[in-house]
Amino acid sequence: MKNNPLPRLDEDDVMRQRLLPYCRLKPGEIWEDPQGRHKVGCLDTADASQIGLLMNGEQAALAIQDPPYNLIAFEVRKLHDFIDWSEQWVRINDSVLSSNSSFYVWIGADQKNAFQPLPDFMVMMRRVENFQARSFLTMRNQRGYGTQKNWMSVRQELLYYTKGNPFFEVQYTDIPKILRGYYKEVGGERTENIERSKSENIRPGNVWVDIQQVFYRMEENVSGCYAQKPIKAIDRIVSASSRKADLVIDFFAHSGSTLLSCERLGRRCFTADSDPLYCEITIRRLEVWRKAGRLGWQNGHPFEDVLPSIAAPTTGRTPAPVTEQSHQLDLL
Ligand SMILES: C[S@@+](CC[C@H](N)C(=O)[O-])C[C@H]1O[C@@H](n2cnc3c(N)ncnc32)[C@H](O)[C@@H]1O
Repeated sequence: MKNNPLPRLDEDDVMRQRLLPYCRLKPGEIWEDPQGRHKVGCLDTADASQIGLLMNGEQAALAIQDPPYNLIAFEVRKLHDFIDWSEQWVRINDSVLSSNSSFYVWIGADQKNAFQPLPDFMVMMRRVENFQARSFLTMRNQRGYGTQKNWMSVRQELLYYTKGNPFFEVQYTDIPKILRGYYKEVGGERTENIERSKSENIRPGNVWVDIQQVFYRMEENVSGCYAQKPIKAIDRIVSASSRKADLVIDFFAHSGSTLLSCERLGRRCFTADSDPLYCEITIRRLEVWRKAGRLGWQNGHPFEDVLPSIAAPTTGRTPAPVTEQSHQLDLL
């Protein structure tokens, strides 16, 4: 089995310099899908004029945002800066979402640092008048970080807000129902819950335990990335909260999971990242899906055409497996 991963591209400057010449976008530029469906911008998500160029007057039905949140140290000023910055881009999202729309944001709680920034982010969201809080979801990771003296941290938090009265379609897992019971009278007849249900499978609810975290042996893995969300999780959000042909936005593209999900599910996606390398990876991920039907680069990487083999990581470290916001891992 070949094993040809890239190091984390945000941390390896030598590799960044090698790959930047192959990036189609410079800061401020926008790639338009030759098939006319999607756009990828090398843009700052907190800059209203840049996002305005990307949207070009269109409004979206759904936003899925995944900001970098492990970069803040536990200093009150930095936390405040992060929340102020978040309020800026959240308000920009509000301005480009339609009057009946959904807004999802992945945001963590650092248990080593007073659970920041999740609670601060939630409080900030109360100030954004148009968004109503709807659900506080948790996705369970298969690997986590922790010590022998604390509960291992295996959760990823996802907040769901709505504007107006958006579309929502109930989703189901692959897990069959095993529970009988929950009798209820329907039309004078006693029915069991399995008879009343629209599916043989259980719903995910707001705790998702059925989604495999991305790691290098999975087809969807995109090495060089450090915070890739599983496509199954994004598919679930896109399917629940948008209709075919709707416009979906994600202004922290990274590995391009939202764009790929939208392509596969028949939605349009306008996405952006401030880093030209992650913009290029996002475009390449769409292209490899269209050309080869592949979700990523299992044991390989997105720049294999220009860098066929990577002898050793230039940092001298073995590339870390994809982890949420790259914390130290313990195996469960
Ligand atoms: C946590 S990752 C997003 C992961 C993504 N959901 C995925 O599944 O691959 C955050 C991304 O935001 C980008 N980013 C950071 N600051 C940004 C900004 N001001 N504007 C746009 N993108 C930014 C980073 O380059 C990084 O790729």
